[in-house]
Amino acid sequence: MSRRWIFLLAAIVATVHFSIIIVMLSPLYGAKNSYYGGSYANRLSLRQPNVNWCKELRFRIPPSNSVVALVSYPGSGNTWLRYLLQQVTGIMTGSIYMDYGLRVHGFPAENVTNGSVLVVKTHEGPPSDHKFQAAILLIRNPRDAILADFNRIHKGHIGTAPKSAFKRKTREHKSDWATYVSIELRSWESTHKHWLNNFPGPIHIVFYETLVDRTRQTLQGILDFLNHTVTEEDMNCAMYNKEGIYRRRKKYRDFDPFTPNMYAALETVRNRVRDMVTDYQRTHNRTE
Ligand SMILES: *[C@@H]1O[C@H](CO)[C@@H](O)[C@H](O)[C@H]1NC(C)=O
Ligand SMILES: *[C@@H]1O[C@H](CO)[C@@H](O)[C@H](O)[C@H]1NC(C)=O
Ligand SMILES: *[C@@H]1O[C@H](CO)[C@@H](O)[C@H](O)[C@H]1NC(C)=O
Repeated sequence: MSRRWIFLLAAIVATVHFSIIIVMLSPLYGAKNSYYGGSYANRLSLRQPNVNWCKELRFRIPPSNSVVALVSYPGSGNTWLRYLLQQVTGIMTGSIYMDYGLRVHGFPAENVTNGSVLVVKTHEGPPSDHKFQAAILLIRNPRDAILADFNRIHKGHIGTAPKSAFKRKTREHKSDWATYVSIELRSWESTHKHWLNNFPGPIHIVFYETLVDRTRQTLQGILDFLNHTVTEEDMNCAMYNKEGIYRRRKKYRDFDPFTPNMYAALETVRNRVRDMVTDYQRTHNRTE
């Protein structure tokens, strides 16, 4: 082969390579993430079309006296649920964070935490200043939530942590990933525990997995809790657009980063939280 052909071939390979990278720089892989800072907005705008809303987003008029928190551990579908709520109601959802990437792509009420918004996103425990009168607690199984958040931290340019990130060792020969899982699992448990045990207002519990499987019914349950009535057309439109742009696709992995010990710990903690939820529902007479 002449040098010219080799050069041409190399140019084609490079072009294809970068095209793939640009395609994969999708907000699905990081939209929830820039509340930790970073220049996410620029990357989003590379290929992000504007969101098509069922109706033009607006603030709540008149504002509600009751501010409702949308609580979850990170990586649990908070942004997707906000997206669904905005589609079905046309009312903006707020956040205790200022995520610039989200703000320019469909969530104009970032950093709004009063009755002008439908719900307010938070990953923190219940605040002591009684900012919230009610809460929606979105619970995803800890394995997927922890993995989603780990991928966010290590996302590099294509949104999935490299395999090496799971194998990196610390000096004590303990894998960073193992330490991460145990710390995050504690945090996953305590987020749910604090809200279920310490929040004085009503809590509506939503399982992420149920929201995925039975989106319409689960969303309707949330609207009932919010005392918000929508028409059937509103609901149909939201369901038609339910995939949105902020939902991560399932990532194919050819290996499972969780060890049998980790699975055992995940199961133990998950059962403890499940029991807390059951107790909460029993004592508060709710059956969702
Ligand atoms: C968020 O809102 C508060 C009060 O409304 C304001 O003081 C603050 O500057 C805002 N933060 C950002 C990052 O815009
Ligand atoms: C809620 O907060 C936003 C932004 O801080 C502000 O523009 C709006 O007027 C506030 N609404 C009410 C009802 O206080
Ligand atoms: C919904 O309405 C009921 C009955 O009026 C009220 O007790 C409850 O606080 C309202 N829920 C929210 C989230 O505002």
